[in-house]
Amino acid sequence: MAKNKTVYYCTQCGNETPKWQGRCLACGAWNTIVEQPAAAAESKKKAGGSLSTSPLRKPRPMDDVEATDELRFPTGMSELDRVLGGGAVKGSLVLVGGAPGIGKSTLMLQICNSLCQFASVLYVSGEESERQIKLRAQRLGISGQGLYLYSETNLDDVVAAVEEQKPDILIVDSIQTVYNGESNSSPGSVAQVKECTMTLMHLAKGLGITVFVVGHINKEGSLAGPKVLEHMVDCVLHFEGEEHNSYRILRAAKNRFGATNEIGVFEMGDQGLSQVPNPSEALLSGRPQNTPGSCVTCVMEGVRPVLAEIQALLTPSAYGTSRRSCNGFDYNRAMMLSAVLEKRGGLMVSNCDVYVNVIGGLSITEPAADLALIVALASSFRDKPVPYDLAAIGEVGLTGELRAVHALNQRLSEVQRLGFTKCLIPARHSGKLVVPDGLQLIEVHNIRQAIAVLV
Ligand code: TYD
Ligand code: MG
Repeated sequence: MAKNKTVYYCTQCGNETPKWQGRCLACGAWNTIVEQPAAAAESKKKAGGSLSTSPLRKPRPMDDVEATDELRFPTGMSELDRVLGGGAVKGSLVLVGGAPGIGKSTLMLQICNSLCQFASVLYVSGEESERQIKLRAQRLGISGQGLYLYSETNLDDVVAAVEEQKPDILIVDSIQTVYNGESNSSPGSVAQVKECTMTLMHLAKGLGITVFVVGHINKEGSLAGPKVLEHMVDCVLHFEGEEHNSYRILRAAKNRFGATNEIGVFEMGDQGLSQVPNPSEALLSGRPQNTPGSCVTCVMEGVRPVLAEIQALLTPSAYGTSRRSCNGFDYNRAMMLSAVLEKRGGLMVSNCDVYVNVIGGLSITEPAADLALIVALASSFRDKPVPYDLAAIGEVGLTGELRAVHALNQRLSEVQRLGFTKCLIPARHSGKLVVPDGLQLIEVHNIRQAIAVLV
């Protein structure tokens, strides 16, 4: 008989270790290692084994593999379809993660509305009763003909219901609330979540059902404990947004059937989520006129150009120690740029408190936004507004030089579409530049030339 070995795992990242430790070696968290119940370890072995031990499978030449395109269908929300790479794939498992209250259940219920017009949909909720779901659906104006609701947390019952009803689409809200009765660990634990996802994965592949699984994100921002889940599923979508902001961004973190560089933009309102097909316009609404410290740039969210307003506020520091804070912009990059502005631009910003903010809950990681931050910082420092019809695009190097950015033509046409008439760009750029009608390009070599546009 095999020796019954005790296994420990980290409740935060799911990493397994043979002995207990105070600190997880994988994610660095303290006091997160717990003992995995023997039953869980045993059934996990079983679940893992069943994937690989099919007697019919053997290696075969790639030429013999029949490769037809995946069967896709639209979900009725074009923003979601875009993120999924052109619609949901039959027989795939999609994990939708997000912080509590961000609108995951609302999104799922809303896509049911259009899905159930051509497919049978089963909505399993471990969080709300059928009555609660119906009330919410009514409030959202969802007729829900052909939609089946099932309020259940025991996965065996869910599987039985699925096998009996054979729906085309299964929605499980949320993976942290369902549990497998055979396992001793409590619902929401890493072992449970892994096992339940594996079972749902088999359902998806075996019966050709498209499964959407909702997962909560914990405080640290990872999908509650089971980072491990991300390896198992076909597609991971992150639903992001700020608590005090109505915009929500759906982002693909992993997609086995498409690119991961698309975003979908939604707005949460009284009638649930509505799609925002024109995010640039929405993000720029309410932009102040003739006020120092604000500059517009264009970032690429995947293949989509989006205009963003970057704000900076510089105030003299009290007591000689300056405070710096960034919201929506990488902190280290912002500090680097303020140092470049001081050394190469000649503005003594080191004696100032620096606050940087990106409007609309957008989180900018692209270097193409550097120039806009430099201009916004200089504008706030000098207390001179940036011309209202001017946008700035460009990467800034440590010597204060401007570097080329990719997809410049696409960005320029978006800038022009939103009514801007001037745009700061790096003087050196690769490829042929197509200048949109009515847009005046101001080509600059370094940040000194760029901040000279401040009147
Ligand atoms: P929900 O979908 O329940 O969030 P999740 O499943 O991600 O936890 O959304 C809950 C929040 O959305 C709640 O705080 C209220 C807000 N909301 C609206 O503003 N309008 C609406 O029409 C609905 C349904 C929810
Ligand atoms: Mg919910």
